[in-house]
Amino acid sequence: MQALLSVAPGGPETLELTALPDPVPGKGEILVAVKAAGVNFPDTLMIQDLYQIKPPRPFAPGGEIAGEVTAIGEGVSGFEIGDRVLALTGHGGFATHLAIKAATAVKFPNTMPFEDAACFIFTYGTSYHALKDRAAIQSGETLLILGAAGGVGTAAIELAKTKGARVIAAVSTPEKADFCRQIGADDTIVYTRDMDKAGQKAFSAEIKALAGGEGVDIVYDAVGGSYAEPALRSTAWNGRYLVVGFPAGIPKIPLNLPLLKGCQIVGVFWGASVFRDPAGHAKNISELFGLYAKGKIKPQISKTFSLAQAAQALTHLADRSALGKIVVTMDDG
Ligand SMILES: NC(=O)c1ccc[n+]([C@@H]2O[C@H](COP(=O)([O-])OP(=O)(O)OC[C@H]3O[C@@H](n4cnc5c(N)ncnc54)[C@H](OP(=O)(O)O)[C@@H]3O)[C@@H](O)[C@H]2O)c1
Repeated sequence: MQALLSVAPGGPETLELTALPDPVPGKGEILVAVKAAGVNFPDTLMIQDLYQIKPPRPFAPGGEIAGEVTAIGEGVSGFEIGDRVLALTGHGGFATHLAIKAATAVKFPNTMPFEDAACFIFTYGTSYHALKDRAAIQSGETLLILGAAGGVGTAAIELAKTKGARVIAAVSTPEKADFCRQIGADDTIVYTRDMDKAGQKAFSAEIKALAGGEGVDIVYDAVGGSYAEPALRSTAWNGRYLVVGFPAGIPKIPLNLPLLKGCQIVGVFWGASVFRDPAGHAKNISELFGLYAKGKIKPQISKTFSLAQAAQALTHLADRSALGKIVVTMDDG
């Protein structure tokens, strides 16, 4: 097998494509010939030791995979050789083969390409949990998404439209704004990449002008940093501010704002919710497969990289260039 290994903390340039013996599935495990691995923001942090989970080295990044079962370990039932499975693996996905716990594998429909399956659960699972379970989004509400052209952001656009919400997509370039409109965003805001005080004021004014009335009902914040406060200042009475991610840094928020706005700041920790509410998670995944089958959602894959180029995929994501999802495919697997 081949794997792109992190051998020392650092950026994508530190990753090394390495030949390794094929793994043997242990008790309760299945061996998956990985066909595609979704690229997610935590992958860029994990190789630098900047993520809360720090796997022992050497390890391959890649927390989300889709592939075919090629061997079955002792004590596993419910899987057959050749089954198409997707899984959240935490790491290890930038490889041609990976042994995973059978309990974490989800079979997916034959009609779903491996690339879509590898870009499905993380983003749609997060955004569905955020909008449905945490914000209780209602038809006719206005949703502002920060970082709307990114992985979880594009999923949030599509899902909000299935719920009948109005979407304002906020992004850092006109190209990203066009991309969001193509996916279904009703309005877009192009914010500055250097969000200083003047930028914050302008951003807040633009949100309020577009939202009308008292402001937006829901903010989906997948960016954080200095983008957070102007968005919170533009939230309506009874609004919900969803804390999703911090690629721009962890913001500090004056607590008088939620008081004055009569709004809620709501934490979204999808990974923990999966363990705390497995039945709710299973229901959400089943509903998401249903939306996919009806053509209501589809991973917005803008670029595909080979395993040998997977370091470039991480750079593409980390430098804020990616549109929607990017995926690594193991054609040589
Ligand atoms: N809470 C949860 O349960 C949960 C689950 C999944 C993911 N997340 C988090 O959600 C965030 C987004 O994940 P993702 O996979 O959607 O990432 P992504 O595809 O890279 O999108 C992130 C977006 O953030 C914006 N951004 C602003 N400042 C940035 C910076 N300094 N570096 C990179 N991007 C920056 C970019 O949009 P603009 O250029 O348009 O600003 C980018 O499109 C990450 O922090 C991730 O860890 C949280």
